[in-house]
Amino acid sequence: NDGALWGARFASGPSPELATLSRSTHFDWVLALYDIAGSHAHAAALAAAGYLTADEEARMHAGLDALAAAVADGSLVAQPTDEDVHGALEAALIAEIGPALGGKLRAGRSRNDQIATLVRLYLLDHARVIARDLLRVVDAIVSQAEAHAEAIMPGRTHLQHAQPILLAHHLQAHGWPLVRDLERLRDWAARASVSPYGGGALAGATLGLDPQLVADRLGLARPAENSLDGTSSRDVVAEFAFIAAMIGVDLSRFAEDIIIWNTREFGFVTLDDGYSTGSSIMPQKKNPDIAELARGKAGRLIGNLSGLLATLKALPLAYNRDLQEDKEPVFDSVLTLETVLPAFAGMVATMRFDTARMAALAPAGFSLATDVAEWLVKQGVPFRDAHEISGSLVRACEERGIGLEDADDALLAEVSTQLTPNVREVLTIEGSVASRTGAGGTSGVRVAEQRAELIARSQSA
Ligand code: ARG
Repeated sequence: NDGALWGARFASGPSPELATLSRSTHFDWVLALYDIAGSHAHAAALAAAGYLTADEEARMHAGLDALAAAVADGSLVAQPTDEDVHGALEAALIAEIGPALGGKLRAGRSRNDQIATLVRLYLLDHARVIARDLLRVVDAIVSQAEAHAEAIMPGRTHLQHAQPILLAHHLQAHGWPLVRDLERLRDWAARASVSPYGGGALAGATLGLDPQLVADRLGLARPAENSLDGTSSRDVVAEFAFIAAMIGVDLSRFAEDIIIWNTREFGFVTLDDGYSTGSSIMPQKKNPDIAELARGKAGRLIGNLSGLLATLKALPLAYNRDLQEDKEPVFDSVLTLETVLPAFAGMVATMRFDTARMAALAPAGFSLATDVAEWLVKQGVPFRDAHEISGSLVRACEERGIGLEDADDALLAEVSTQLTPNVREVLTIEGSVASRTGAGGTSGVRVAEQRAELIARSQSA
């Protein structure tokens, strides 16, 4: 087995079935440039500890640079005989700079500390891409909220009309979870910025290599505190998978609103043609597929997280080959988000709202009944009684097939002497919305403040 990383103690080479099962190059090749970065750092540590002369170190870096260029332009790929990315790159390095020098690089490191480091480097890089894409969704939400700062819509609980709210308030409510996801990525990155390199297979190194030097070269904050933990824990990978799943779930809730708003029955939103799809049989169809795919892919992101947790559960220390199963799920989560987020941002940025329809439906379902009760409280009526009076007015209006705002003076007086004609000051959706000035509430002033805070938090995450 030419170029294999092991074999001397074996009487025979690996069976073809084992080789097929064991091979990981079809997915771990995406780590090739990170593996090379790790090798640069490791070569520097070997040189600093006196295992490579200055000339050898220079030739080693040059050889690794040649490998990186060949990986980047696609001329270097894994061979069918390569077990994994580490072995493939060592074989390529030896072909590049010869076995006398190339054979020195493996001293003091193991694939176990390598892979645990590389997966962190990969995730840290992609976390930055995902954060940037997520910020674009937040920006699209903020732009739509700014463009519709005063538009009023029906606010719902249990999907039933509840109280009128500002459309901007609702849109921003989808922005906040995404801002917290940005903050989660930032907090996670601080925990992920640890280098297991130097931990060896499990027990640590004997060669006196400086792990902080390696960490510095890789842009990681510090070496792992414990070599067993460093090589065999994957909570950092699982936490990333959780954040990815949370982002998926947060997007799916917004997606569901958009799908409902886009129905003929609601008619609140029209999606741009560039962000909608058609039907192969029904010529008239225009479907919200981006929102549906975002909603559907949340399931896949959750699956990646639960699969990974199942792999980790009860795994004994230290490294076990099971840990190779950490990569495909998170690679898939990364690819999924990097595909979904840009499309989602474009869909949100280009949605058109029928604000007239939203405003017209806002008072439906007696959504101003709470305002009537709270107006009575301001007149000194105990809320318990106010709730009863307002509820009776709803019943009286419902029986007559009219809205609260249509009740005449006689009907108001018939329901309760406390309901003077002045109650009409809260029987408009504008009055209702404007009066909700409590913290976090739906009045225009509060929503504008929340928007400024949302922008500030999203930019500092
Ligand atoms: N491919 C392995 C992984 O992804 C790393 C190699 C470790 N192999 C080993 N036999 N210890 O975890």
